[in-house]
Amino acid sequence: MNLLHILSTALIYVGIASAALKNYTIQDDDPAVTYSQIPLVTCPPTTCSPTMANLFNGTATVTDGPITVSFTGSAVYVYLGASGPCFFTIDGVTAGTFPGSTLDELNQDERLVYSNTSLTDEEHRLAIYPGALVSLVAFDYVVYT
Ligand SMILES: *[C@@H]1O[C@H](CO)[C@@H](O)[C@H](O)[C@H]1NC(C)=O
Ligand SMILES: *[C@@H]1O[C@H](CO)[C@@H](O)[C@H](O)[C@H]1NC(C)=O
Ligand SMILES: *[C@@H]1O[C@H](CO)[C@@H](O)[C@H](O)[C@H]1NC(C)=O
Repeated sequence: MNLLHILSTALIYVGIASAALKNYTIQDDDPAVTYSQIPLVTCPPTTCSPTMANLFNGTATVTDGPITVSFTGSAVYVYLGASGPCFFTIDGVTAGTFPGSTLDELNQDERLVYSNTSLTDEEHRLAIYPGALVSLVAFDYVVYT
């Protein structure tokens, strides 16, 4: 009886905890995204990738300047293509790098270039910095939990 009660109480808490975890997507043209420099290209009308259908909601933004995204959550996943290296900061602290490949990375299904699942559940500021002089970033979207 006691054990059953403890078990069912525990199950209810587990249920509440997993129900509270939800993913939200911020796409490249969302007001939560700030571009430090005027984007070089927005797609559409330009075609960022031969298979635009692979882009989240059919859009991406190409820039060679920093991109910042504000979100409130405990995890973040970044989807983009980059012609050269780029690095990521969270709340101003360097948190990761992506060596870069080609912008064609956006053609592939898997374009997750950075994730962090160990954040405190509060407001955060993610910044994406193209690392090299001629490094272009084709930013597609961010998912946060
Ligand atoms: C959120 O999305 C990421 C990336 O697709 C996935 O690994 C994670 O399990 C998702 N989390 C939730 C709570 O749906
Ligand atoms: C797709 O993009 C349009 C235009 O920016 C936006 O209004 C809409 O909310 C987006 N859909 C999703 C699922 O994000
Ligand atoms: C996640 O972000 C935290 C806080 O900025 C940082 O300390 C940690 O190293 C990051 N982890 C990963 C895997 O990037």
